[in-house]
Amino acid sequence: MSLAPKFIPSLICYVLLLAATELSVFGSVSAVESSPTTAVIRGGYWLSWLAQTFPPAAISTSHFTHLFYAFLEPNNVTFELTVTPNDDQWMRNFTSTIHAADPQIKTFLSIGGGGSSVPIFVAMAANQTSRSAFIASAISVARSYGFDGLDLDWEFPNSTDDMSHLSSLFKEWRQAIETESSSNADRPPLELSAAVSYASSFPSPPRSYPADAITEYVDFISPMCFDYFGKWSPSATGSHAQLFDKTSNFSTSYGITSWIEAGVPPEKLVMGLPVYGRTWRLKDACHHGIGASAEGVGPGNEGVMIYSDVLEFNSANGATEVFDTASVSTYSFAGTTWIGYDGPNSIDVKVKYAKAHGLRGYFFWALGYDNNWTIAEAAQNAWMYG
Ligand SMILES: *[C@@H]1O[C@H](CO)[C@@H](O)[C@H](O)[C@H]1NC(C)=O
Ligand SMILES: *[C@@H]1O[C@H](CO)[C@@H](O)[C@H](O)[C@H]1NC(C)=O
Ligand SMILES: *[C@@H]1O[C@H](CO)[C@@H](O)[C@H](O)[C@H]1NC(C)=O
Ligand SMILES: *[C@@H]1O[C@H](CO)[C@@H](O)[C@H](O)[C@H]1NC(C)=O
Ligand SMILES: *[C@@H]1O[C@H](CO)[C@@H](O)[C@H](O)[C@H]1NC(C)=O
Ligand SMILES: *[C@@H]1O[C@H](CO)[C@@H](O)[C@H](O)[C@H]1NC(C)=O
Repeated sequence: MSLAPKFIPSLICYVLLLAATELSVFGSVSAVESSPTTAVIRGGYWLSWLAQTFPPAAISTSHFTHLFYAFLEPNNVTFELTVTPNDDQWMRNFTSTIHAADPQIKTFLSIGGGGSSVPIFVAMAANQTSRSAFIASAISVARSYGFDGLDLDWEFPNSTDDMSHLSSLFKEWRQAIETESSSNADRPPLELSAAVSYASSFPSPPRSYPADAITEYVDFISPMCFDYFGKWSPSATGSHAQLFDKTSNFSTSYGITSWIEAGVPPEKLVMGLPVYGRTWRLKDACHHGIGASAEGVGPGNEGVMIYSDVLEFNSANGATEVFDTASVSTYSFAGTTWIGYDGPNSIDVKVKYAKAHGLRGYFFWALGYDNNWTIAEAAQNAWMYG
């Protein structure tokens, strides 16, 4: 994040140099272990509430190694997962459709999400009895519906107590997974992952994720490297998933670095990439840079516009599209509408950054937002040739 715009050409050299170093390290440490290329995680969240328009059969499985079913929630009294009739129908369809297309793809059941009730997670994690009910239910539902893993998406632990309870939750969850797998020798243990904030700690109230427990008990975590700006910052435009920013901590490079400095090995980190933009209404159509004055959000759902709609908007309105190499982000403007998002160019640099820093891979929020898989394709190519 200290790289100035004028150093962008050397950034690319730096990335390539690091990538070469990674490869030689992998090569010399162990020739039998899978190569970094095959070990990569190319993830995506599938949204069960969009099942009618974007069913599991619509997923281009060749672009992914890990697919996440979003979301189930714990009941607020029993802390067991609630399986709605819609979930009952689509969870089975999701795992069967994906495994039929490619048995190597790992399917994960994701629990929580941005729209879920925070107090339920706070209460569940606070008490050993409720943690245990939650864990047993999660394992049971995952096995009944043919999932390969479980993913926790608690947005967000809000206190140091929550973080300490989260640590206990991960420890007990791992123990339960091991116990369950030892009595089911015919199938591999469930995997355990978590979607987490873009950075390893929060400034307010101050609290840090339990990096040690994550390292010891969780297979990988998925920092959500997006939503740095949005409807809660209505007075100026912002690149909501920028890689670099010299003036603030709202950047993916800051977040990823914080996780590594907290002690989580880079190979347990999967970088989040948004397949949507955030929009603003410019105060003055002639001032349309990053940070330009704005008067609230622009078009979309509370200022959120999925990538395929961004392209449609750009084309219908003759918008100017800018790839900003300093922040590594893309934006477009037309009249008083301003949209910050990731196009293939910014995705390419971010994925190469992830690979160069030894990360395990990347994931998308969300499947069904892309335009004919162009973003997924750009990411896949960036990792392969980066
Ligand atoms: C649980 O949720 C139900 C339905 O939303 C609500 O009526 C009830 O008060 C909640 N109970 C607790 C303990 O939060
Ligand atoms: C999944 O649902 C689709 C309808 O969207 C159906 O055509 C397909 O047969 C189902 N597949 C499985 C494996 O259940
Ligand atoms: C823990 O939760 C269980 C059931 O959810 C409840 O019966 C018990 O009283 C709680 N224990 C504490 C110490 O809060
Ligand atoms: C988080 O905790 C702070 C106090 O530490 C409180 O003001 C805030 O409302 C809490 N937020 C949520 C989402 O629970
Ligand atoms: C960024 O975070 C660091 C801690 O990681 C803190 O010391 C610094 O003050 C923060 N900078 C800004 C601009 O908030
Ligand atoms: C989608 O992409 C594929 C492969 O890149 C291409 O063959 C196809 O024509 C595209 N479809 C549309 C509707 O653009």
